[in-house]
Amino acid sequence: MKVYENISLREYNTFGIDVRARRVVVIDADEPLPVLEEPFLILGAGSDVVFTRDYPGTVLLLNPDAADVVMQPDGTVVAPAGMVLDRLIQWTLERGVYGLENLSAIPGTVGASVVQNVGAYGVEAKDVVSRVEAYDLLERRPVAFSAEECRFGYRTSLFKSQPGRWFIRRVHYRLSHTYTPNLTYRALEALPHATAAELRQSITDLRWSKLPKPEEHGSAGSFFKNPVVDEAVYRRIKSEHPDMPEAHAAEGGYKLSAGWLIDRAGWKGRTMGRAGVWPKNALVLYNTGGCTGPEVVALAEAIQHDVQQQFGITLIPEAIIV
Ligand code: EPU
Repeated sequence: MKVYENISLREYNTFGIDVRARRVVVIDADEPLPVLEEPFLILGAGSDVVFTRDYPGTVLLLNPDAADVVMQPDGTVVAPAGMVLDRLIQWTLERGVYGLENLSAIPGTVGASVVQNVGAYGVEAKDVVSRVEAYDLLERRPVAFSAEECRFGYRTSLFKSQPGRWFIRRVHYRLSHTYTPNLTYRALEALPHATAAELRQSITDLRWSKLPKPEEHGSAGSFFKNPVVDEAVYRRIKSEHPDMPEAHAAEGGYKLSAGWLIDRAGWKGRTMGRAGVWPKNALVLYNTGGCTGPEVVALAEAIQHDVQQQFGITLIPEAIIV
């Protein structure tokens, strides 16, 4: 275990926001948890968080290098929660097990990808996660969850809905020795003959054509969730704006493109203070340099206000505001 006192969190969040934490504790995957003073915050790679002020308690991190990945004969892969997801994907492809390749280049850790049920290019974490090993901080005992018990939803899970209760240690993925590409995302349709490594490369290139690279501009990926509306609302907006992208049928209605709504509301490429809307993708808010959390929140609220006014739709952040 490593303990750092009164330290900047700038390196621990992909937005690059410079707040301080009273303490940061980094533990190995199998190390017992320290007794935590309240308040505490469990952080992965900090790729979906916006810090709005100094953190007055302990930030708990898993050492990304402290445990091995294990592959079982049936293709199940067990990975430590602190590992960077993209590194795990590379590891699986090098060993000929498939299923994670569409999630290539998503910033963040294995554990956080379960909390958020991350998804991209036709695949969500829930499609491949079979089991989650965690520690129950309330009852102070280890627990394991089946995929169903994780209550995955669109960018949410049991773990997201009960923040601070579950410390995820390991994630099991049901992968396959046979490569069956998922090409359901429109831009991937032309790749039926690509190898898994080529598909991974195409997805990586596609992602970085639409999103800022974390090492160049701080961001949290998509800032808002795509709103799910009922059919009447979808039909109303579609009739007023025939150029709106087709909505996807989703649990509870139709999933509209938040990026298009924000773009249409005139926000693409604009800045407010030191926070900006990414010029190539209106769903992404980014740090133009030295940006603070309140500046990001002010920009997000201005966007929410305008989208509400113009379309009658409430945008909900995907990013977690701390
Ligand atoms: N669009 C615009 N203007 C924009 C941005 C998008 O008109 O500025 C339109 C696009 O032309 C397209 C539609 O909106 O017709 C949807 O865009 P895209 O395919 O890029 O996907 P998205 O719905 O904006 C979601 C995920 C991404 C994921 C992509 C690809 C959410 C909140 N976001 O974005 O996930 O990579 O699909 O599967 O669900 C993330 O969660 O951080 C993330 C990056």
